[in-house]
Amino acid sequence: MNDGVRMRSADQELLDSNESNQIEIDLLLEAIFRKYGYDFRNYAKATLNRRLSHLMEITGMSSYSEMTHRLLFDQAFFEIVFEELTINVTEMFRDVEFYKILRQEVIPELRTWPSLKIWVAGCATGEEVYSLAILLKEEELYHRSQIYATDINKTALLKASQGIYPIEKMKQYTQNYHRSGGGDSFSKYYTAQFGGALIDSSLKSNILFSAHNLVTDSAFNQMHLICCRNVMIYFDSELQKKVVRLFSNSLLPSGFLGLGKNERLLDLEESRFKTRFNSDVKFYQIQREHGK
Ligand SMILES: C[S@@+](CC[C@H](N)C(=O)[O-])C[C@H]1O[C@@H](n2cnc3c(N)ncnc32)[C@H](O)[C@@H]1O
Repeated sequence: MNDGVRMRSADQELLDSNESNQIEIDLLLEAIFRKYGYDFRNYAKATLNRRLSHLMEITGMSSYSEMTHRLLFDQAFFEIVFEELTINVTEMFRDVEFYKILRQEVIPELRTWPSLKIWVAGCATGEEVYSLAILLKEEELYHRSQIYATDINKTALLKASQGIYPIEKMKQYTQNYHRSGGGDSFSKYYTAQFGGALIDSSLKSNILFSAHNLVTDSAFNQMHLICCRNVMIYFDSELQKKVVRLFSNSLLPSGFLGLGKNERLLDLEESRFKTRFNSDVKFYQIQREHGK
């Protein structure tokens, strides 16, 4: 056999094994959906595959089929897989530019409404929603706001409702807060308790935490602002479109949608959204329909 032929067959073997791996992963996602009702089938493949391959490494399993079998018959193992697939990384005042634009550009428009309904979708362990609560309080809008903070991951939501964060993170969060335009003393928003930083209860009173799955659950009603940051980046383009429709149906005319730093709306011309503010931070607004 000459080198050319040998090379082609090695390439072919790799292709075959990648294809077989992908079939095994598709079957694993199907098994999760049918057994537990969580639908990861339209999440972006690259991230999903990376997370599952990492899991295989740390669990020492030899194949995705073995993983499928285990998660079908062992709920505790499924929960480990679920934690790996729902990436809960977050921080307070993450991407400070977002909060700058929110404070300077969006808040003046939100202020014109007598009361506000805000949905933080994919709130993870709550750092983002408390950042928003602080900003609203400083802008004297918190008392007339109702915030719905949702996530697919109930363990993360429980942490969010407790609002206790590692004290050593407060230094970085204080810097983020000031860089985002916060002018107060950040330490007034938490007390050192339970070995961590406990968020002040006055910031919790108007927040409702609840489980909600963006893939399978229905729309919320009449929102003025939706923040969904660093969530849709894990979805494929079809699922992104579906979730954008859900947001479009959940917002009032002129309501705002704020996305993460690396997220964009794909087909603006087909949606009811228009881009607002000439900035790297992406805020979109529902266009008023003619005659309304
Ligand atoms: C990377 S975190 C983003 C947290 C926060 N929004 C931020 O920007 O810091 C992504 C969150 O999306 C949640 N998530 C993933 N899929 C979801 C779905 N289908 N419905 C609701 N939340 C989902 C995950 O559980 C996770 O908490």
